[in-house]
Amino acid sequence: MTSVPSISLSQNGPSLSRLVYGCWRLHEDPVGVSPQRILEKIETCLELGIHSFDHADLYGEYSNERKFGETIRSKPSLRDSITIVTKCGIQLPGANRPGIRTKHYDTSRAHIVASAENSLKNLNIQKIDLLLIHRPDPLSDPDEIASAFAKLREEGKVLHFGTSNFSGSQFRLLQSRLDFPLSTNQIQFNPLYLDPLSDGTLDQALELRVKPMVWSPTAGGKIFNPREKNGIALLKTLIDLAGKKGKNPDQILYAWFLKHPSGLVPVLGTNDPGRIRSAAGAFDVSLTREEWFEIREAGAGGPVP
Ligand SMILES: NC(=O)c1ccc[n+]([C@@H]2O[C@H](COP(=O)([O-])OP(=O)(O)OC[C@H]3O[C@@H](n4cnc5c(N)ncnc54)[C@H](OP(=O)(O)O)[C@@H]3O)[C@@H](O)[C@H]2O)c1
Repeated sequence: MTSVPSISLSQNGPSLSRLVYGCWRLHEDPVGVSPQRILEKIETCLELGIHSFDHADLYGEYSNERKFGETIRSKPSLRDSITIVTKCGIQLPGANRPGIRTKHYDTSRAHIVASAENSLKNLNIQKIDLLLIHRPDPLSDPDEIASAFAKLREEGKVLHFGTSNFSGSQFRLLQSRLDFPLSTNQIQFNPLYLDPLSDGTLDQALELRVKPMVWSPTAGGKIFNPREKNGIALLKTLIDLAGKKGKNPDQILYAWFLKHPSGLVPVLGTNDPGRIRSAAGAFDVSLTREEWFEIREAGAGGPVP
């Protein structure tokens, strides 16, 4: 099987594996969240060439970074084999944030710096490869964000920066305040959620040559457990193409992302090592243009105009 290649997200940007392993659902793993179980998934990824791991401060109610960090503490040599993406800016009420009453965003300089420093501590690492502003904040001052990025960069705590869920204009605005390029915009995109194809997000990624990371590539699992008409048609299309090519339906789905010229980097959400292995097989699938449009058509519920 082809090993998962790496990809540079932007000019002088970080080199991530072309599939990233997402840690949002680590705490939901039915097998558990022990360092041994997390290590099993990290080692499965590394074996396949998946060396990049996507976090956010708040995943698992602010506990998943720490659990991942405990695994790193149990095997410090992992630090040299992995690249870490994390995010900041969402303030979520809950047992681990007793001072917060209302869910809100905070992209102040002080919060960004404190959150990144806390992520370093929790993850047990010396540097974050890529830090993303998790969501566009209506109260954000781009100059403050730029100042936080500059400080973290000068101190060597964060090597690269990006955004998540930003519109094209929000991305361009933040970029205008920085003297280095943003590395990515991590976005929601899949055959059941096609907005980025028409709202300018992927046009901008191509224009700036900045590769988007893609979250919820299986629509949170809905693509493989569909209830709606489009989802049912989509799964049938994936199964038919998989049968034709002697592959798994998820490999067809991930190959659909890989074919887009913007250089999409899907972030895997499965807790199942077998499904991580299967996803890596997408690099052995090639889709024709017509097959790509067949999948788009099934997800959209109709053909292109
Ligand atoms: N930037 C953001 O705002 C944002 C938002 C959401 C997520 N993210 C990132 O994106 C990552 C991926 O998102 P996600 O977890 O929603 O990904 P996803 O793959 O769309 O959803 C994962 C869910 O789908 C199921 N699933 C995956 N592959 C399957 C298959 N082949 N057959 C049946 N079920 C399958 C998984 O169950 P099993 O575990 O049983 O396989 C899991 O419950 C997250 O971990 C996080 O790092 C970022």
